[in-house]
Amino acid sequence: MSHKIALIGFGTVGQGLCEILLDKEEYLNEKYGFDWQIVAVSDPVKGSVYCPDGLNVSKLLKLASDGISLDKYECKCDKAQARFGWDALKTIRESNADTVCELAFTNVETGQPAIDHCKAAFETGKNIVTSNKGPAAVDFAGMQSLAEKHNVKFMIEGTVVSGTPIINLAGGPLAGCSFSSIKGILNGTTNYILCQMEAGMEYETALQKAQELGYAEADPTGDVEGYDAMAKVIILANVVMDAPISAKEVEREGITGITPAMIAEAKAKQARWKLLGTIEKTTDGIKAAVKPEMVPLSHPLAGIMDATNALTFATDLMGDITIVGAGAGRIETGYSILTDLIAIHRGM
Ligand code: HSE
Repeated sequence: MSHKIALIGFGTVGQGLCEILLDKEEYLNEKYGFDWQIVAVSDPVKGSVYCPDGLNVSKLLKLASDGISLDKYECKCDKAQARFGWDALKTIRESNADTVCELAFTNVETGQPAIDHCKAAFETGKNIVTSNKGPAAVDFAGMQSLAEKHNVKFMIEGTVVSGTPIINLAGGPLAGCSFSSIKGILNGTTNYILCQMEAGMEYETALQKAQELGYAEADPTGDVEGYDAMAKVIILANVVMDAPISAKEVEREGITGITPAMIAEAKAKQARWKLLGTIEKTTDGIKAAVKPEMVPLSHPLAGIMDATNALTFATDLMGDITIVGAGAGRIETGYSILTDLIAIHRGM
């Protein structure tokens, strides 16, 4: 039976996911028996369409790339049952989707509107897969318990370091290990800027390049002031270390105070500035921080360059385990959604 999917938001991530699903349609079916249908897409700007028998994904992508509203989608199903213009909540509540991929714009401080989208999905018996940090950063426990109550899944691999497996690694292959600390480079934009500054580029030019390359958020304040990394730290603390911390418990400092002179000083000391996110179990409880640190070149994290992310789990049974990979991007974040969809399919 096809896994029916509704997409809330049809921007970079939603379209990236659709491109992967199309490219790998046969492979996913042969290797994992994963057979899917996109039954609905709802986007406040790009339009909305729903057909319970499934939509043609190539047509959806073409409309989006041509800048034509999804409301103009020509449904070829024989029962004339397509519906247009449904908003996110109506799509979530009334579509026949098994899983809602929540990929719309979200305020990371309030978690809205994604939190309401997740609640509506759980209450109508649908799984949520999301790369939005809001719901997990603001109310992970609430989301998780509502999903459990309705016997559905709340899957969030894409919230931390895109499709590089972090959440699923900690909860899957590393199950049984306890974590005494998690430390790493959790924001690609700032790592890219610091690397470019070391190569002699000015901060403003490096930031502009990071935006052009699609690493930075639309408003890059979240990147350079450490809010994006802070949201990831909160999620990791809650999900991986069972520590229910919130923003007020995270010490946060961005990279805007790092000057060319400080970079030169680090270089002279055989070191490099990195914006590090850290969660540590201490005798006083959990300590969490995002701040620039001067890392000696001999340290593994010093060699992580440009927009790459890296994270070291300090475990009781396996010592340190470090994972390095892409933290952003259309296909990379699209993949984070696919990996969770496959996990749900395997558990179905
Ligand atoms: N803007 C983020 C980064 C990616 O630069 O890492 C999404 O969290």
